[in-house]
Amino acid sequence: MSKLTFENQTLIPGPGQSVLDTLLQAGVQIPHSCKQGVCQSCLIQVGAGEIPAQAQAGLKAGQISKGLMLSCSCYPQSDLKLQRYNPKQEMLTTRVVSKRMLRPDVLELKLDGELKYQAGQYVTLWRNDTIARSFSLASQPTERFLSFHIDVRPNGQFSQWAAQTLQLGDSLSLQGPLGDCVYQSEATTPLLLAATGTGAGTLTALAKEALTQGHTGPIHFLMCARHFQSMYWQHEINKLARQHSHFQPRFLALEGTPLTGGEIADVYPLIRQEFPPLNNVDVYLCGAASFVNKMRKQCFLAGVKPRNVFCDAFEPGG
Ligand SMILES: Cc1cc2nc3c(=O)[nH]c(=O)nc-3n(C[C@H](O)[C@H](O)[C@H](O)COP(=O)(O)OP(=O)(O)OC[C@H]3O[C@@H](n4cnc5c(N)ncnc54)[C@H](O)[C@@H]3O)c2cc1C
Ligand code: FES
Repeated sequence: MSKLTFENQTLIPGPGQSVLDTLLQAGVQIPHSCKQGVCQSCLIQVGAGEIPAQAQAGLKAGQISKGLMLSCSCYPQSDLKLQRYNPKQEMLTTRVVSKRMLRPDVLELKLDGELKYQAGQYVTLWRNDTIARSFSLASQPTERFLSFHIDVRPNGQFSQWAAQTLQLGDSLSLQGPLGDCVYQSEATTPLLLAATGTGAGTLTALAKEALTQGHTGPIHFLMCARHFQSMYWQHEINKLARQHSHFQPRFLALEGTPLTGGEIADVYPLIRQEFPPLNNVDVYLCGAASFVNKMRKQCFLAGVKPRNVFCDAFEPGG
C-alpha cells in the first residue's frame, strides 16, 4: 500500500484513488478543474518517490525536471513525498481588452498578452487561486489579441464571473498553451472540420491558419447544432467561404428554422453517407465532449485513420 506525505500529514489513497482525490478527501485545498490530465491546474511537486509516467503526460521537460506531476492523474505505486506547488510560476498575466456577447450565452473575451501558441490550442484561465477553467483560443497567433469564445453556463463559476464581474482592464492569469489539435496536414490533403457550440470559434481560427499556411486541398467545414437558434459565428464562416472557394461550410441542425443555406440534418449518419471514402482525409473536431467522441467514432467507421483525427473535446471542469 503506497503512502503519501504532505505538509506533516500521512495519507493512504483508497483503491483506485488519485493523489488529488486523496488530498481533497483529507480537506487539503489543491486547485483543480478537469480531473482528466488536461488543464494542468492540479500540479504538485514530488520531493521523493517514483512518479508514474501517466502523471507527467503532456508536461514540458522543465516541469518534469522540477519533479512536477498532475495530481489528478497519479495513482501511486510507491510512497510519495509531496509538496505544494505554486502554479503562479506557470502563469502569464494578461489584461482584458474586450468583452462582447456573440449570443445571449456566448461571451467573446479578448486578452492582451505575449503568448506563443498555435491556432487550436487551449489555455487554462484562473479566476483566483482555486478556480481555473480551460478554454480554446479562437484567434490566430498573428492577431493582436488572444480571443476566446466562452459558453456562459448557469452557475458557471468562471463563465458567469467572466460575463458579469470581469471588467475591461482587469488582469487575468493564464496557464498554457496546451493541446495538439493544431493544423498539421499536408497542403493538398482534404480536410473535414466539424464543430459544435463554442468550438465554432476555435475551428474557424484553425481553418484560417490552414489557409494562411497555403492549404490547397478542399476544406469541408461542418457547423453542427441541435437547433439553428443556437448557432452563431456564421457570418465569419461565410466570409471565409467568400474569400476561398475551396473552403466549403455547411450548417446542420436537427431542429428549427434553417438559416440561409442551412440544412436540417443529423451529422452522424451524414458523415458515413456523404463523405466516404475518408481514408485520405484529416479530421479536426472541436466542441462538446459528447459530440467529439461520437463524431470520432463515425469517422473511424467511415474509414478515417485514427492518426488523422485531431480533437479538442470541451470537457466540463470544476
Ligand atoms: C481542452 C478544453 C478546451 C475547452 N475549450 C472551451 C472553449 O473554448 N469554450 C468553452 O465554452 N468551453 C471550453 N471548454 C469547456 C470548459 O472548460 C468547461 O465547460 C468549464 O467547466 C466551464 O466553466 P464554467 O465556469 O462555465 O462552469 P462550471 O462552474 O465548471 O460548471 C457549471 C455547471 O455547468 C456544467 N458544465 C460545465 N461545463 C460543461 C460542459 N462542457 N459540458 C456539460 N456540462 C458542463 C457543470 O457540470 C456544472 O453543473 C474546454 C474544456 C477543455 C477541457
Ligand atoms: S489536469 Fe488535473 S485537474 Fe486538470
